[in-house]
Amino acid sequence: MNRAENNRTLTLNEDEIIRYTGLCPCTYESENSIIHGDVFDVLKTIPAGIVDLLIVDPPYNLSKIYGQQTFKKMNDEEYSSFSYRWLDAVKHTLKPNASVYVCSDWQTSIFVGKILGEFFTVQNRITWQREKGRGAVHNWKNAMEDIWFATVSPKFTFNVNDVKMRRRVLAPYKIDGEPKDWTKTSGGNFRDTFPSNFWDDISIPYWSMPENTDHPTQKPEKLFAKLILASSNAGEIILDPFAGSGTSAVVAKKLGRKFIAIEREAEYCAYAQKRLENAKSTPGIQGYVDGVFWERNTLAAQKKAMI
Ligand SMILES: C[S@@+](CC[C@H](N)C(=O)[O-])C[C@H]1O[C@@H](n2cnc3c(N)ncnc32)[C@H](O)[C@@H]1O
Repeated sequence: MNRAENNRTLTLNEDEIIRYTGLCPCTYESENSIIHGDVFDVLKTIPAGIVDLLIVDPPYNLSKIYGQQTFKKMNDEEYSSFSYRWLDAVKHTLKPNASVYVCSDWQTSIFVGKILGEFFTVQNRITWQREKGRGAVHNWKNAMEDIWFATVSPKFTFNVNDVKMRRRVLAPYKIDGEPKDWTKTSGGNFRDTFPSNFWDDISIPYWSMPENTDHPTQKPEKLFAKLILASSNAGEIILDPFAGSGTSAVVAKKLGRKFIAIEREAEYCAYAQKRLENAKSTPGIQGYVDGVFWERNTLAAQKKAMI
């Protein structure tokens, strides 16, 4: 494949895939590892009660090729029983104060929220507005995903001050001539706000972003950074049983957390290892600067104004 000159997608040749996959154990040995294997086998090897935060991005109920295997669309009953199966297999790993996030699209969201509620206490549903594709001709373009938030018990971590969002102030209100809760800068007027459960500030990884790989359903680092900062503390353990290209592991590493990631495709395990290696020299997360998440396009405007 001939890629554009400025395409920054991470790619690996056959030798690299073999070398990086060789770094992955097939069962749980210690934290901070990408485990190459089937989720239902590997989860049996993870000790009970060690995980602080579970992030699950399972295959949605669509026929999709993941590396060497195809996930085949199921009927609703089969997809529900697949969800029960992995939830049942993962629950022993969680601490009593752990949090759980599960990604879904509009079709699987209907089941996922309900089933999750049978295992844990559902706290919220985040809707992520993500632009992708050129649109559907005979239907509304699908541009959202849900991320269900649940906890094992009423006692859980929620670091709201670590996930504030810096927004442009459209109507800058003043009292006695002084800004009311906003700051004037050369790049515009901004306010740091508490985040809501509607996220419209995160794009999917694009070919021009160094975090991008050829994984077909890769999540953005900025998205998982919010989950990890809000629902875990430095040094705690994040488990991702359907890790794909390793986004959760990479973000965990960048934010000083530990990770356990499981993926059955060798190529994706290799992407994850390479991304972890790259994180040493490029520890930043696009859109997260100075401890705040920037609204789309505002950071660029701010930087331009400062030149
Ligand atoms: C939606 S993708 C996850 C993408 C990931 N969040 C990322 O940012 O790259 C789901 C992943 O689950 C993997 N998978 C599916 N069934 C699996 C199984 N039984 N065991 C382990 N991995 C599996 C697929 O290969 C795929 O990479």
